[in-house]
Amino acid sequence: MSRIEIKQALQLTNYGAEINVKGWVRTRRGNKNVQFIALNDGSCLKNIQIVVDLQNFTDEQLKPITTGACLSVVGILVKSQGAGQTVEIQANKIEVYGTAEPEKYPLQKKGHSLEYLREIAHLRPRTNTFGAVFRLRHNMAYAIHTYFHNHGYFYFHTPLITGSDAEGAGQMFQVTTQDLSKIQLTEDGKVDYSNDFFGKQTSLTVSGQLEGELAALALGKIYTFGPTFRAENSNTPRHLAEFWMIEPEVAFIQLDELMDLEEDFIKYCVRWALDNCMEDLQFLNDMFDKTLIERLRSVVDTEFVRLPYTEGIKILEDAIAKGKKFEFPVYWGCDLASEHERYLVEEHFRRPVIMINYPKDIKAFYMKQNDDQKTVQGTDVLFPQIGEIIGGSVREENYDKLMKEIEDRHIPMKDMWWYLDTRRFGSAPHAGFGLGFERLMLFVTGMQNIRDVIPFPRTPKTAEF
Ligand code: 4AD
Ligand code: MG
Repeated sequence: MSRIEIKQALQLTNYGAEINVKGWVRTRRGNKNVQFIALNDGSCLKNIQIVVDLQNFTDEQLKPITTGACLSVVGILVKSQGAGQTVEIQANKIEVYGTAEPEKYPLQKKGHSLEYLREIAHLRPRTNTFGAVFRLRHNMAYAIHTYFHNHGYFYFHTPLITGSDAEGAGQMFQVTTQDLSKIQLTEDGKVDYSNDFFGKQTSLTVSGQLEGELAALALGKIYTFGPTFRAENSNTPRHLAEFWMIEPEVAFIQLDELMDLEEDFIKYCVRWALDNCMEDLQFLNDMFDKTLIERLRSVVDTEFVRLPYTEGIKILEDAIAKGKKFEFPVYWGCDLASEHERYLVEEHFRRPVIMINYPKDIKAFYMKQNDDQKTVQGTDVLFPQIGEIIGGSVREENYDKLMKEIEDRHIPMKDMWWYLDTRRFGSAPHAGFGLGFERLMLFVTGMQNIRDVIPFPRTPKTAEF
């Protein structure tokens, strides 16, 4: 007999048929005559109830069926008498695949703290919360690929190991096969990489953008979706050392079209969650955040504000004049802190904001310069509860301007020749952005800590599992 997933079994109405389900025991309760096992196989949030008539099973058979044990159950599908479920299974045969010693199984009780569950990240997918989060995570990845595929973008794979630190988006992790206890030095006392694996210094990438730009200037519209690494020592609920980023890059678009894309794309993802993941969303809404679904709906329905940086600064200065207190100072030229971004989004506008035209000095070298010589066409999408969810820009396509920026910032030219070639041969206006996948996950799940939306978080001093 072939096994049926619990998600499907719960939809069945052919009562009296014999079926086979497999999964992990969530709870077992009952009395001398009958026992009830709640079985979950991860296919959906709900458990299926297994009814065990004690006339048909010995104590010896039932003893290993404790919370966490894995079972295969063959039984008759019946209409459920109890509340909360439509069908249940009257067990004929139970095979125990794996026991879970009650004294040792770490997920014994319900209601463990999220902090505790992080310590047992190898088992937390078996909880309702993380089942919901990881099913949503899959759905968001699928929505992203679907969106781009349907809009004619090509999924382009950029390297994870890179020989340049051109972007400067964050501190990098080095990649080496050298024996670290015997590092070779050159005559001038620097590390000698000539005998290292790649014959030069290499690192894990902080972004696939620069290679993505090359592809956009050939295939027209591309996106990347892969892991990125940043060794910044920021132990916050919104930073990971290893996170996934989606980076579309598009030829022949300008600032307005870039913002349209950012807004349309993110709304599509949120709408996808509302249309396809309601059971899990409802659970997270009820468990953690009673305004989650309302917040998701409101993002899908409202137009994002498009706000020049200079106006944003004025709004913040006005707020300070009226008595609003911020930890960090506000002045034209400052890099906005998350408290500033959240004030604009959550208190002033009460909807997502796309901030544009940032001071040149706080943004990356590749952003397209405005005629005022002071600002660049960067776009950060700021979200309620999250702050920056997307960072993007129109790219400087002019060789001379780009070259001057590279020189002014002392970016090593030897690393950049291939990037500059795009501006020498058939350069074109183009733009793109990066969405932090886990930031999107934070928004969609309502979870408060980024460590709880990725299966195995990497943060300073933690790389377990
Ligand atoms: O703003 P960032 O640094 O932009 C770039 O890397 C550009 N190359 C993107 C592009 O234009 N193609 O990062 C993009 C997004 C941020 O808006 C944020 O959502 C996320 O990546 N992000 C992080 N997410 C988790 N942990 C971190 N340490 C992150 N750093 C950035
Ligand atoms: Mg950014």
